[in-house]
Amino acid sequence: MTTVQTSTNGDQLNQDSDKSNLIVEGKTLDLPLYKGSIGPSVMDISRLYAQSDMFTYDPGFTSTASCESKITYIDGDKGVLLHRGYPIDQLAEQGSFLETCYLLLYGDLPQGEQFEDFKHRITYHTMLHEQIHTFYKGFRRDAHPMAIMVGVVGALSAFYHDSTDINDPTQRNIASLRMIAKMPTIAAMAYKYSIGQPFVTPRNDLDYSANFLNMCFSVPAEDYKVDPVLARAMDRIFILHADHEQNASTSTVRLAGSSGANPFACIAAGIACLWGPSHGGANEAALTMLEEIGSVDRIPEYIRRAKDKSDPFRLMGFGHRVYKNYDPRATVMQKTCHEVLDTLGLKDEPLLQVAMELERIAREDPYFVEKKLYPNIDFYSGITLRALGFPPEMFTVLFALARTVGWIAQWREMIEDPQQRIGRPRQLYTGPTLRDYVPTSNR
Ligand code: SDX
Repeated sequence: MTTVQTSTNGDQLNQDSDKSNLIVEGKTLDLPLYKGSIGPSVMDISRLYAQSDMFTYDPGFTSTASCESKITYIDGDKGVLLHRGYPIDQLAEQGSFLETCYLLLYGDLPQGEQFEDFKHRITYHTMLHEQIHTFYKGFRRDAHPMAIMVGVVGALSAFYHDSTDINDPTQRNIASLRMIAKMPTIAAMAYKYSIGQPFVTPRNDLDYSANFLNMCFSVPAEDYKVDPVLARAMDRIFILHADHEQNASTSTVRLAGSSGANPFACIAAGIACLWGPSHGGANEAALTMLEEIGSVDRIPEYIRRAKDKSDPFRLMGFGHRVYKNYDPRATVMQKTCHEVLDTLGLKDEPLLQVAMELERIAREDPYFVEKKLYPNIDFYSGITLRALGFPPEMFTVLFALARTVGWIAQWREMIEDPQQRIGRPRQLYTGPTLRDYVPTSNR
């Protein structure tokens, strides 16, 4: 029989003034309680096994805080997302992606000179070692761009030896700038390679998002001018995807980093995890789903399938582990979607009509209401990215491009955390107990 009694006086984390008495099978355990600046308090169970010979059990980590962090805060019930305290909608509407990068990395919005220096340093790290161009040629042209991203990013440590020593703060900072600066170049080259067009080198006279669109859509045969409205939309989409607390891919980066792996290898691990359709792959899956539905009159059939436990189909772009309210990023994403379609004269885009009607129906359906399933950031991003000219298989690449700054910021925080140790979870073992080997002749 286990009961928990707690006494709290509300101090911040690491001031061990809160206690919880956990009574496990008659034994009383004193476990410290820590209170953050906002959000749920935590019970420190790091001594639980030593005191009780028991583990906690939390598959999927629905009730487990893996770390202390000062970077991003999410309130899933209120639909709140803060980056270093700033609401995502204000950052997306008023700021730039590189400004958000600075904020996530260094903790505050940059002032004039700081920001100019940061932008200059990012700009002058956008080129790739020429030998990496040969690396791409080892892939088939029809390789999924995410497969290329995992491979090329994982190989960067073979080219940039001077920024792999994780114990050197200077090298950690150079690796951070290199990753943020080079991801657009790597992503654009993955796209160009898949369509058989020549790579386009970065241009220092263009800002971050305009440079990316130019590397993706310009061709040597003629001049190309990036539409500033579309560049602004791209920049805002990057801001919306920059960081999101301890999601699956960020947790992967932290766990890989806890072993001392170099930052490029850690980011490659994060890209691999993000690829899953339950995570960053949902934007590609959501567009594929909308195309499969095809028209408003077929929506009821798919709503029924999404509710049918015997059918593995789920509404892609709906639901979230943390948000049990509207994803605040989806609100900005939907607005950006309309802006892009209006700019391109596509406001009657059939898929947008299907998406808006699907959202309306789902949000009135008791199944979705009771389970608090709302559209997430992936629901409208696919339509927007396709309108910008990207094929569906590039959508998760763009998510990875943007999320790189979040992964890097969280990786740095983990490396600089004095409590940091290698991550090594335990298990509930239910396999065979001890038994002797049986020679083949006796089986
Ligand atoms: C991202 O963690 C992050 O922060 C991620 C992310 C980020 O920025 O890093 O926000 C990015 O990954 C967004 C999520 C993108 N994924 C999708 O859109 C895929 C569709 N969504 C589902 O696969 C699901 O909602 C998850 C994976 C997002 C969340 O899974 P959970 O928290 O484990 O939820 P669950 O599977 O336990 O669902 C709870 C219930 C279940 O029914 P019951 O077993 O309780 O009867 O809701 C149902 C689920 O069957 N459900 C859905 C559904 N999502 C959940 N039913 C139909 N359609 C859906 N989309």
